[in-house]
Amino acid sequence: METIAFFDAKPYDRAWFDRLNPGYEIRYFECRLTKETAVLARGCAAVCAFVNDRVDADVISALCAEGCRIVAMRCAGVNNVDAQAAQGRLALAHVPGYSPHAVAEHTMALLLTLNRKLHRAWARTRDFNFSLSGLEGVDLFGKTAGVVGTGRIGRAFAEICRGFGMRVVCCDPYPARIEGCRNVSLDALLRESDVISLHCPLTKESYHLLDTMAFLKMKKGVFLLNTSRGALIDTEALLHALNSGRVRGAGLDVYEEESGLFFEDRSGSILRDDALVLLLSKPNVVLTSHQAFLTDEALREIARVTYENLDAFFAGKPMENIVRAGG
Ligand code: NAI
Repeated sequence: METIAFFDAKPYDRAWFDRLNPGYEIRYFECRLTKETAVLARGCAAVCAFVNDRVDADVISALCAEGCRIVAMRCAGVNNVDAQAAQGRLALAHVPGYSPHAVAEHTMALLLTLNRKLHRAWARTRDFNFSLSGLEGVDLFGKTAGVVGTGRIGRAFAEICRGFGMRVVCCDPYPARIEGCRNVSLDALLRESDVISLHCPLTKESYHLLDTMAFLKMKKGVFLLNTSRGALIDTEALLHALNSGRVRGAGLDVYEEESGLFFEDRSGSILRDDALVLLLSKPNVVLTSHQAFLTDEALREIARVTYENLDAFFAGKPMENIVRAGG
């Protein structure tokens, strides 16, 4: 069978890709895919890449030169892929919707942690500090959640919020009908919501969707959640909004400059990203490093669908999960 060059490989990826492997030869590389590392794919008909790998025009040319015929992204979001540049040269596949629950549940975990200050309470009790001062939260029951993007994950998150007894407003250019949820404009959502959660893809149009103007439209004391893509938020504008108290707390699983940092242990080095250092210094910011997808169910499904995509491609059958230029 064909050989796959597997970039940004982590032990949790290998576990399921090895277990479900129908017979491909896999060359695992710990480094990310870039113009410089594309040469490692020499002789491999397929490349398997992830969210912080770069699949731009240069990388695509380099992969074609090495004989690669398909890039199988093992993720849903494909903002790091230049589908235009790949057209007619290289097939592109991805894994849409492997477990919307994994991401939606992590989003709620971020909100609960922020609101009830679990991260601070955990640190205190480990130090035998049993004081409650400063740990006050609010009831989520009866509050309004604003869900931006009502695709698979946004819908799952909206339903979790409904389960908490929250009102839910949504905005999406192609709105889904979700029982008990009202579709509104982005401006109305920003004005009305006590909690705002981003679940739309990163595109040219949604880049810095939440900028200074957007933050000014929000209620004072809003909770902001982003488990989608970092560049949906202008980080400088978020820092201002946190300093002014406009944003009561931010739960972030993604960061606009995460590439090269997230997924790696950087604990022994100086972090040179000042905006990230500032975010991490705030007690009302909870940041996880792009782990919302990380459940057994999701990892298994990612491996299963990636193999399904590759099997279809190499058998000359139509692939269901093609990444097309222009969305
Ligand atoms: P989906 O494709 O099912 O839904 C996306 C929805 O966003 C669609 O309904 C679309 O119409 C809507 N949308 C597009 N532009 C919009 C805009 N400007 N404003 C409001 N809505 C807009 O995608 P799914 O599976 O729900 O994933 C959403 C995003 O979550 C992905 O694009 C990806 O970036 C992110 N993601 C993050 C993960 C993590 O581990 N943190 C894991 C998986 C996905």
